[in-house]
Amino acid sequence: MKNGLTWLTMALLTTAAAASACGGEKTTPQGGAGSAGGEPALVVADQAEWDSLAAQGKTSFDAACGTCHPGGEADLGPKLKGHLETTADMTRQIREGSGRMKPIGTDKLPEDHMKGLLVYLASIQAVSDVKGP
Ligand code: HEC
Repeated sequence: MKNGLTWLTMALLTTAAAASACGGEKTTPQGGAGSAGGEPALVVADQAEWDSLAAQGKTSFDAACGTCHPGGEADLGPKLKGHLETTADMTRQIREGSGRMKPIGTDKLPEDHMKGLLVYLASIQAVSDVKGP
């Protein structure tokens, strides 16, 4: 009984380790911003869902980004409106930062707020590969 459990624990740990090693290996395509013909990274087909995500995203944006990019305009940071970045580049910029923009972690912007934020960013043409209704 005891041995059986130990074996099971080992097997589970091994599986978990293999899975996390796999998940950590992120390959981000180097596609340029707005590259034509690319698959959309996010599709929201329903208008009501889009509107609600965009509203959530605006709240997240105002809280996490608004001080430096108010309403997507330039202030401390550059203008984001019309920027048409890929969501991959946008997500990297948010999580890793650059220059005087510090990385924004999940404490300020939880992972489950990211979808709404990307929809809001699409509504101001800051990201290119989010498809609305
Ligand atoms: C403390 C101020 C600050 C906050 C908060 C901030 N940014 Fe920035 N952001 C900057 C600065 C400064 C730059 C220019 C960075 C550089 O020179 O490399 C920048 C650059 C960017 C860029 C790259 C623009 C380009 O021209 O390449 C994007 C995209 C961006 N920010 C998005 C965001 C988003 C989305 C948020 C919120 C989740 C955010 N930023 C929050 C200050 C900020």
